[in-house]
Amino acid sequence: MTIRKAVFPVAGLGTRFLPATKAVPKEMLPIVDRPLIQYAVDEALEAGIETMIFVTGRGKMAIEDHFDLAYELERTQADRGKSVAALEGTRLTPGNAIFIRQQEPRGLGHAIWCARDVIGDEPFAIILPDEFMVGQPGAGCMKQMVDAYDRTGGNLICALEVPIEDTPSYGVLDPGTRDGTLTEVKGLVEKPAKGTAPSNLIVAGRYILQPEVMDLLATQEAGAGGEVQLTDSMAKLIGKQPFHGVTFDGERYDCGSKLGFAQANFALSCRDAAMGDELKRWAKALL
Ligand code: UTP
Repeated sequence: MTIRKAVFPVAGLGTRFLPATKAVPKEMLPIVDRPLIQYAVDEALEAGIETMIFVTGRGKMAIEDHFDLAYELERTQADRGKSVAALEGTRLTPGNAIFIRQQEPRGLGHAIWCARDVIGDEPFAIILPDEFMVGQPGAGCMKQMVDAYDRTGGNLICALEVPIEDTPSYGVLDPGTRDGTLTEVKGLVEKPAKGTAPSNLIVAGRYILQPEVMDLLATQEAGAGGEVQLTDSMAKLIGKQPFHGVTFDGERYDCGSKLGFAQANFALSCRDAAMGDELKRWAKALL
């Protein structure tokens, strides 16, 4: 079955970016001139996904507005004879943008479960917008995963190597056999205590899951950090359904952290046709 729907959990509080995220959603922070959520949606569209399901919360209205018609802006620019080309891709097909509220930030697993009725009985994708993935044009992270899914079916997560000392911050894979970019998943553990991680392969913000995960999430059991963890429910599918990790061919920036966000902005700004060369000259002189 093709992957037609993607869930974007965007109800988190973004506390690591306070005070910037007091009134502005973390997902609206820009990399150069596009908000993180726009990159995530573009990645889904490139993978052939049609329906975008945003799990939002209070204070996240800017995300809904971003994907709507900006009537005053478009009208004013047109009256001034100015282009609105920069807004291209920000208006989603009517009916294909669905917004659901997670009333309390009870964890990623709970956010995904909030989308259960819209997902129904079909496999679906999940994209965490603050995990910013940069692939070659036409071969973004979700596209690579959908291509892999055509071969494997079942459940897929994006798997990435990190320094072993970083594993306590992530969901970590217990890996089985490896075949090219695919790694069999034998187990998953969320935020393992220091020294106990089964590998240095982490789950990196991209998933293709079977709808049965919703039944497991329904128990609402709290895991690491007192939150309903998606990893715990995914782990229960292992052995019952195929489960693989896909190694992404591209760059990954953890834009949930200030360092990753600054790195992403610097890397993409350096490649920008209008300002890249000048920025690199300036950075060299600065350092
Ligand atoms: P994070 O833990 O990285 O995001 O969750 P956060 O809680 O917003 O950030 P900090 O740690 O306070 O700075 C990963 C993703 O899951 C979403 C977040 O919006 C983010 O995209 N999320 C998390 C929810 O939608 N609901 C939740 O209850 C928790």
